[in-house]
Amino acid sequence: MGKARIGVYGLGTMGSALALNIAGRGIDVAVGNRETEWITPFVTGAGDLAGRIHACDRIEDLVAALDLPRVILFMIPAGAAMDAMIDAVTPLLAPGDVVIDGGNADFHDTIRRAAALADKGLEFVGLGVSGGEDGARHGPSLMVGGSDAGWQRVAPVLTAIAARHEGQPCVAHLGPDGAGHFVKTVHNGIEYADMQIIAEIYGLMRNGAAMPPAEIGAVFARWNAGPLRSYLVEITARILEYLDPETGHPMVDVITDAAGQKGTGRWTVIEAVRLGQSASMIEAALGARAWSSEKATRQAAEACLGGEVGTVDLPEETLAEAFLAARLLAHAQGFRVLAQASSDHDWALAPATIARIWRAGCIIRSALLDEIADAFDAGPPRGELILAPGIAGLLGRTVPALRAVVTAATGGGHAVPALSAGLAWYDTMRRGHGSANLIQAQRDMFGRHGFARLGQAGRHHGPWWA
Ligand code: 6PG
Repeated sequence: MGKARIGVYGLGTMGSALALNIAGRGIDVAVGNRETEWITPFVTGAGDLAGRIHACDRIEDLVAALDLPRVILFMIPAGAAMDAMIDAVTPLLAPGDVVIDGGNADFHDTIRRAAALADKGLEFVGLGVSGGEDGARHGPSLMVGGSDAGWQRVAPVLTAIAARHEGQPCVAHLGPDGAGHFVKTVHNGIEYADMQIIAEIYGLMRNGAAMPPAEIGAVFARWNAGPLRSYLVEITARILEYLDPETGHPMVDVITDAAGQKGTGRWTVIEAVRLGQSASMIEAALGARAWSSEKATRQAAEACLGGEVGTVDLPEETLAEAFLAARLLAHAQGFRVLAQASSDHDWALAPATIARIWRAGCIIRSALLDEIADAFDAGPPRGELILAPGIAGLLGRTVPALRAVVTAATGGGHAVPALSAGLAWYDTMRRGHGSANLIQAQRDMFGRHGFARLGQAGRHHGPWWA
């Protein structure tokens, strides 16, 4: 066996799938794993691809199995495990070698690690990988952060394994150090919002219109053939068809309504707030997951506060339009966070490129991203997606349905936190004059904070201080 072009360390679900993807493109890959007993079954299970896989029990063996400059992709849990592996591998590497972190890392860690490795002459690439196991195996969306030199060294392999949208690889060098991991974090934030929107609309059909899951699944399947086409709509339609083999009930009905989370949605919200913004639909989705996991409290409250909800009788088309409006608003909020972080960190993120590499391979891939990419290509006024003429037109056509759905839902006592947050943001942004003048007056009255006056320069105080 000759040398391998790349090493993959970490043979969990994503690492195994990526290693097979790499081998499947005819690229020799060296693999290693902390639990060495996983390695042989992995190679055996690779079938015809085993000939391209170099099994390495020790990290030293993996480093020795690589062509120069060496490129090692770590697919291990984010956090302390990554720091420990960096400490273990860097003494074995030489200047010009590349360490890639393909986990869902906190981008602050990525910035710190990139600087530490640069001091040793090593390249550190923070790689956002989206698409779950299937994407990793057959073509993920890849969001790359790192230096130009690091990108040059990893581009051939990453381009070979990435998903394709109309022949274009869904991989891009988005900026230095933490840029790739930050974009992946916001991708996940939008993923949280889109999943919550879908769950709210499902909830209205299930609890407001008493539709059986399979019938709701058929609605999602119809939507997947139109402007709402997306991976999450597609899998929702499929999920809702399944029956529980144990009880024969719809599968979704026997799953506990308490959603988990691993951190990326929370990081998006924290960063948005730190940047002086509010990605309110992502916040709503995050909060809704937190509330969902307080199942015992909700059960106690149902007994004490009353859990009855009213009928919601809305045409399928109205729900579809509301969904499209909400999806669009959630993306617009996510892209605002990206734009603000880009200027804060001097990353020069290109929103059209990001929208393009999200069109295939990743969890939020959808038909809408084509329109979003086109809108960013044309350069929307103030860089705001909601001000792009095509997008503003689409919102104008679909927001009335969102308003009808939120009105009907709240009237019937159905919680729709993401849909209502989206509508509130839209209604705030479409008015040049709001009500924060009163807040400024209050701040001045209780704390002499001062305020700006319409049409006058400088800082002013109210007559209450005269
Ligand atoms: C992806 C996914 C993937 C995973 C996240 C979200 O793009 O492939 O975003 O990274 O689903 O970890 O997980 P939680 O919902 O558990 O936070």
